[in-house]
Amino acid sequence: MTSRPWWRTAVIYQVYVRSFADSDGDGVGDLEGVRSRLKYLADLGADAIWFTPWYPSPMADGGYDVADYRCIEPVFGTLEQAERLIAEAHELGLRTIVDVVPNHVSDRHPWFVEALATPPGSPERSRFWFRPGKGPDGEEMPTHWVSSFSGDTWTRTVNPDGTPGEWYLHLFTPQQPDLNWSNAQVRAEHEEILRFWFDRGVAGVRIDSAAMPVKDPALPEVPLHPGPGGHPFIDRDELHDIYRGWRAVADSYPDERILVGELWLEDTERFARYLRNDEMHTAFNFDFMSRPWEAKELRASIEATLAAHAPVGAPATWVLGNHDVTRVVTRYGRADSSFAFATKRFGTPSDRGLGTRRARAAALLVAALPGCLYLYQGDELGLPEVEDIPLEKLQDPMHFRSEGVDPGRDGCRVPLPWSVANASAGFSPDDARQAPWLPQPADWAELSVAVQQGDPKSTLSLYCAALQLRKTEPALTTDQFEWFPSTEGVLAFRRGGSFACVVNLGTESVPLLPGEVLLASGPLTDGSLPPDTAAWLRL
Ligand code: NOJ
Repeated sequence: MTSRPWWRTAVIYQVYVRSFADSDGDGVGDLEGVRSRLKYLADLGADAIWFTPWYPSPMADGGYDVADYRCIEPVFGTLEQAERLIAEAHELGLRTIVDVVPNHVSDRHPWFVEALATPPGSPERSRFWFRPGKGPDGEEMPTHWVSSFSGDTWTRTVNPDGTPGEWYLHLFTPQQPDLNWSNAQVRAEHEEILRFWFDRGVAGVRIDSAAMPVKDPALPEVPLHPGPGGHPFIDRDELHDIYRGWRAVADSYPDERILVGELWLEDTERFARYLRNDEMHTAFNFDFMSRPWEAKELRASIEATLAAHAPVGAPATWVLGNHDVTRVVTRYGRADSSFAFATKRFGTPSDRGLGTRRARAAALLVAALPGCLYLYQGDELGLPEVEDIPLEKLQDPMHFRSEGVDPGRDGCRVPLPWSVANASAGFSPDDARQAPWLPQPADWAELSVAVQQGDPKSTLSLYCAALQLRKTEPALTTDQFEWFPSTEGVLAFRRGGSFACVVNLGTESVPLLPGEVLLASGPLTDGSLPPDTAAWLRL
């Protein structure tokens, strides 16, 4: 039997470096902190680690404003430390995935600094989207495109003599100028960046905002109902050629290097195009992540996902959270448990007990589905969203650009609790000079790794058991998947052989399928499955 490529069934753990572990006591996570916890990730059952951007950055957007793609942010460490981290992770069986941000750079990136220092029409400016304004004095911005972070997408420059100059495009913050992907240097540079990291042994790249880098050069306004490929800056057909170039770079390495796309697209057929066998290997499944905790909804998403991936032969991915979205425990404890950026508000009530039960059941659901599993740091601990960070401590531009309406994404980025050892719940060393960069809630230490490791009923123990079984159950490494007939509110499926997963999303207990219970997300009562509980069975 030939073995299946690792990335088709991998468990990929997302490390948000700033908040994972602080080794030097400055209150900010760093590479040595990650290195000291590699064994934890290996024991948990991860196959790979995806690092959010670790490059030098002014941190206008948590590192997604990159000033130098070939170096490490000094607060996080050095390039030598990254190389050691990659090598030591590899020795423990953990592959490394780095985050590459092609849509924009930091306004401190040398290219943008050079662009600002040269006049309109310069080759330096042609790597970006500089345009004169509209109106008699050029005081109107070139388009009215709205930023993903709300607000405008153009900022006006100032000429050396102090007069107003051209405008430049930024789909995110003004500190993240968009690159012009019709410029050959932009393309060549990114292929070199991929090689730079592949040469250092990384196994893959996560492609940030992967549907956005290409723009319609005519810069039209966004139509009311853009047809397929008709949006001026999302999902343009020209993108495929770029990713084919990237795939060729990845495929030029003898062992498998992978491309993982961050693609927020509703059209599943357009989404799957990026996963053709000469483009990306996989992409995040945000449809599933955004749906409410309802059997009908999740079943529809699972079916649509599997149907969309089948024709291109790519594995599906399953994601419950990441550094951009409200923590799953908090989401699933709300009356409306769906996720949308546009509707995030302060003070939305959530029942933590209910959310925790559901998040645990969801863990067994996603770990039993065919494809790869993404696990965001802290979700294995059942951490809730931190919703009471003092306003003056918030850092996320999404919050500020919404004029304070959107709480932003800091609440899922609070530094991890490792132990009860000290005031930072073990995130920083005992003699730390600084408090964690975002304040931790008072009960954080109770949720810590050390506490949960000692409790067989903890969410961490559940994840460990599930990820171990995922490796040892042969059926879970196949593509086989078949629904069982089930009552309303229940999801029940077989994964080839005799392995089954049953999840009760209804309000009443339901009888379990006959068989041996391998693992359950909560207590089972008299052979039946209570609401918001999942079980894995051998039939
Ligand atoms: C998606 C990233 O996940 C998010 O954190 C970032 O703000 C935007 N892309 C812009 O780079």
